Amino acid sequence: MTKNLVIIGAQFGDEGKGKFIDLLAHSFDGVVRFQGGHNAGHTIVVAGKKTILHLLPSGILHDNLKCFIGNGVVVSLSALFEEITLLEENGISVRDRIYVSNNCSLILPYHCALDAARENKMGKAAIGTTRRGIGPAYEDKVARRGLRVCDLLSHKTLEEKLRNLADYHSFVLQNYYNVEVPDFGVVLDELQTYAKMIQPMIIDVAAVLEDYRQQGKKLLFEGAQGAMLDIDLGTYPFVTSSNTTMGAVGSGCGFGPLYVDAVLGVVKAYTTRVGAGPFPTECLDDIGEDIRMRGGEFGSTTGRPRRCGWLDMVMLRRAVAVNSLTHIGLTKLDILDNLEKIKICVAYQLNGKKLTSPPLINDELAQCEPIYEEFPGWMEATSGITDFVKLPPNAQKYIQRIEELSGVPIAMIGTGPDRKDTILKMNMFFRACSTQV
Ligand code: IMP
Repeated sequence: MTKNLVIIGAQFGDEGKGKFIDLLAHSFDGVVRFQGGHNAGHTIVVAGKKTILHLLPSGILHDNLKCFIGNGVVVSLSALFEEITLLEENGISVRDRIYVSNNCSLILPYHCALDAARENKMGKAAIGTTRRGIGPAYEDKVARRGLRVCDLLSHKTLEEKLRNLADYHSFVLQNYYNVEVPDFGVVLDELQTYAKMIQPMIIDVAAVLEDYRQQGKKLLFEGAQGAMLDIDLGTYPFVTSSNTTMGAVGSGCGFGPLYVDAVLGVVKAYTTRVGAGPFPTECLDDIGEDIRMRGGEFGSTTGRPRRCGWLDMVMLRRAVAVNSLTHIGLTKLDILDNLEKIKICVAYQLNGKKLTSPPLINDELAQCEPIYEEFPGWMEATSGITDFVKLPPNAQKYIQRIEELSGVPIAMIGTGPDRKDTILKMNMFFRACSTQV
């Protein structure tokens, strides 16, 4: 039986993880984020009402559910409290059930300034980051000069550490990038204000999760971004600055990987990517535009148009392997409803050779030509269907082919944005969570 479930993006992020996390969350005792920061954008629609979460775990919309932000997350305090306030204004109580690890690294205004200055200086070669300071904050963490949540608890430590960090970054901002430096006094004041507000939420997340495990409680681990944006395993340098793959659960919140029972990889029925970097199956034609418009493929964090293309099994097979995916959750099937023909990339062609796994060198990946299998479309509406056998036969065949090519069963299928627009194809989650849609 699935007690502890990891839900992870198996492509370039924006797969629709938030919907499945929200759908399953009520059957767990806690939802945990373990990497990334407020660069994520998890869109949840309940009874037609849309909520976009960036930092808070997607389970927060369920009353009484405990939510944890693990040590692997980089935390912007302003983003955290903006999001808490927004939810509270909408009648959702948050402060009594959100817990933040004392070891989380902080994102400071210096990091945002650096992120933006670098992207501007790189011009056309820019990575296309969310400019939220994610990369620079992780750099400070690894360089062992960063500020952590626990540093907020001592005024003296906070001021000293912030002074060192400010001196270090101000020099580069001023002298290399020629941009304005955040005001030290303002940054310190803000941190002190937030320090008081966050104090009741600070805990040792790893210790509490171990207590949960020992008491037999169920935990849902919520990934952000996607496997191909992993700092080590993704399309470097066009990646985010954290490990987005399943292994990060262990390091990002202190929950031992062998205590995880299942890993659900969320996959869009096609592929999207926001930001720069290789994308072999990208459709730069009318089909790409059609998918973008029908799918509302605009970044939920930055509003940027997402690049759209066909489903890429070469990348998905890599995601299956590196995340040890036990199940797939397929999203946005209905967006393909009007297409006469649908393609799946089954291999790449590079310099006359057929490749079945993606090359690790980015320039080589950029030169790969996709080899496609083509399917007749179903050309009828699937929106809102909740029963697999009610799907048009060609849609069923498309889904079955994805299962064959990935070697992983598809447990759930999204047929619309709302929590209820879901086909629960397998009963794994029924047993685990007695899911009510
Ligand atoms: P960063 O995470 O802001 O440093 O951005 C690095 C890359 O990851 C850029 O290509 C972003 O567009 C991408 N990225 C970051 N977060 C997300 C996400 O939640 N969904 C999709 N792409 C993301």
